[in-house]
Amino acid sequence: MDMGLKNKTALVTGSTRGIGKAIALELAREGVHVLINGRDNDDVERTVTEIQAAFPETEPRNAAADLVDSRQREALFANFPHVDILVNSMGIYEIMSYDDVDDAVWEKYFRTNFLAANHLSKFYLPSMLSREYGRIIFIASEEAVMPSGQMPQSIRCHQIDAVVIIQKLVQADPRR
Ligand SMILES: NC(=O)c1ccc[n+]([C@@H]2O[C@H](COP(=O)([O-])OP(=O)(O)OC[C@H]3O[C@@H](n4cnc5c(N)ncnc54)[C@H](OP(=O)(O)O)[C@@H]3O)[C@@H](O)[C@H]2O)c1
Repeated sequence: MDMGLKNKTALVTGSTRGIGKAIALELAREGVHVLINGRDNDDVERTVTEIQAAFPETEPRNAAADLVDSRQREALFANFPHVDILVNSMGIYEIMSYDDVDDAVWEKYFRTNFLAANHLSKFYLPSMLSREYGRIIFIASEEAVMPSGQMPQSIRCHQIDAVVIIQKLVQADPRR
């Protein structure tokens, strides 16, 4: 399928395995230069090499960073100041009992599943608007709309909030 994405650049967060990696592979198949992210540099390098071998016409790159760490995020922004497509796929989850969810757990999930994607979106949105091209995609979970009760700490609803807020910001922007 030609989705008209050839030679675009996409940062796919959490793309060394799972859903993020699958998205990165499909984007590379479309001719997109993917920026591979995860905290483990060896995993990132391995994924970059794999995608480069499978799609040699593209230029996948190493965008290793812990996206919860503000200094590592800033370094990532300095290395990659513009992307055409941002896929916020990185997220954590585990089955937990509500009794075990203390403030530290709430904070960890909020920083990881909401704040990291929010910082990335806030950074990349202005240049997308000024270039009059951009896509920001959030991978959330049905836990956001139909909570199972097994992951009370996931606070997935905030990811849906982020999508709606960014959509409204873009709609309201006079440069749109
Ligand atoms: N799997 C499912 O059944 C399912 C269902 C619904 C929704 N989802 C959502 O889909 C998304 C992907 O899920 P998945 O199961 O495919 O994930 P996964 O297999 O656990 O992979 C997570 C990815 O994120 C990276 N990562 C984790 N913490 C990070 C951090 N602080 N900074 C940068 N990278 C980080 C991991 O690499 P490192 O560990 O090396 O950092 C890895 O590349 C998540 O948002 C998840 O909630 C998944």
